[in-house]
Amino acid sequence: MNVLVTGSSGLVGSTVMELLSSEGHIAVGFDQRKSPITDKFTVETGDLCDFPRLASIIKKYNINAIVHSGGISHPHAGEVSPYETVRTNILGTSTIFEAARIFNISKVVYLSSGAVYGNNSAAVTTIDSKVNPENTYAVSKLTGEQLGEVYNRNYGMNVISLRLAFVYGPNRFMPDPIKSLLERAVHGEDIDDAAGGDQQLEFIYVKDAALAVYKALQAENCSSSVFNIGTGVNTKIKEVAAVIKKIYPNVYIRIGPGDLGYDFIGAFDCSEAEKQLQFKAKYHLEAGITDYAKHLENIHKADK
Ligand SMILES: NC(=O)c1ccc[n+]([C@@H]2O[C@H](COP(=O)([O-])OP(=O)(O)OC[C@H]3O[C@@H](n4cnc5c(N)ncnc54)[C@H](O)[C@@H]3O)[C@@H](O)[C@H]2O)c1
Repeated sequence: MNVLVTGSSGLVGSTVMELLSSEGHIAVGFDQRKSPITDKFTVETGDLCDFPRLASIIKKYNINAIVHSGGISHPHAGEVSPYETVRTNILGTSTIFEAARIFNISKVVYLSSGAVYGNNSAAVTTIDSKVNPENTYAVSKLTGEQLGEVYNRNYGMNVISLRLAFVYGPNRFMPDPIKSLLERAVHGEDIDDAAGGDQQLEFIYVKDAALAVYKALQAENCSSSVFNIGTGVNTKIKEVAAVIKKIYPNVYIRIGPGDLGYDFIGAFDCSEAEKQLQFKAKYHLEAGITDYAKHLENIHKADK
């Protein structure tokens, strides 16, 4: 496959670039900012809403599939600039779908978010659970999914939307409680946070998120086009801290009660992704944090 990966300098996009390349595919990145990925792979810079630029890249590299991972990727960042979130995530996504339609690229994997569910009190969140987007980011993600459905129905495309749980791992630059705790632990710093221990999130390691994207790219004849992608496990930040303490026993860690302002979403039922995409997360929390810690330790050593 010749795959255009938008958001290739970001957390998920950069990992998808690595995975596609290691599997022998041509991966062409597209992002508005440069990153270490830019030097390692073929990456074009530009804005998601710039149709002529995207069209010339699609033609230049003979693209036949798209992973749309670019955009404003965090609910809190989305509230800083609602207008920019709508422009980038809704107009940007529609620009990608339109380019795909015009260039006869039927397979597009669109990265949506569990944020579309909003706060729910469910023990388990299935793909049929009520959606209730509560912020601009969540509205933008749901709109992208709905546009994808329209392109599937009206233009014969094969857009697959993946509702990702909270992704952690190397190259995350958006706020992330795991990153915040682990970076301090790797640097040997005490951790004494006033609040946040009760915040509960479903964490998925970025290598698993990239694997789900890869499986979705390969999937044919799925009976549905929107999937939950997570681990099916919600974890409190104080439990994350206990995992980090196990890896770094000499680091002092104390986290006060309360949350960090993220929605509470019942743990994902990912059975349809397992059945239709043959995707199942491989990394449980401790395995993912251990792998991430090795990456941060290497950076720390190189900086010394
Ligand atoms: N990280 C998570 O926890 C998470 C959870 C659920 C869903 N998602 C979704 O997955 C996708 C990828 O998330 P991520 O964590 O890799 O995000 P990220 O913020 O790490 O990467 C997004 C990339 O998009 C680029 N970008 C933003 N606006 C652009 C524009 N106008 N033109 C070109 N490039 C632009 C950014 O420069 C960035 O490199 C996003 O669509 C996000 O909504 C992420």
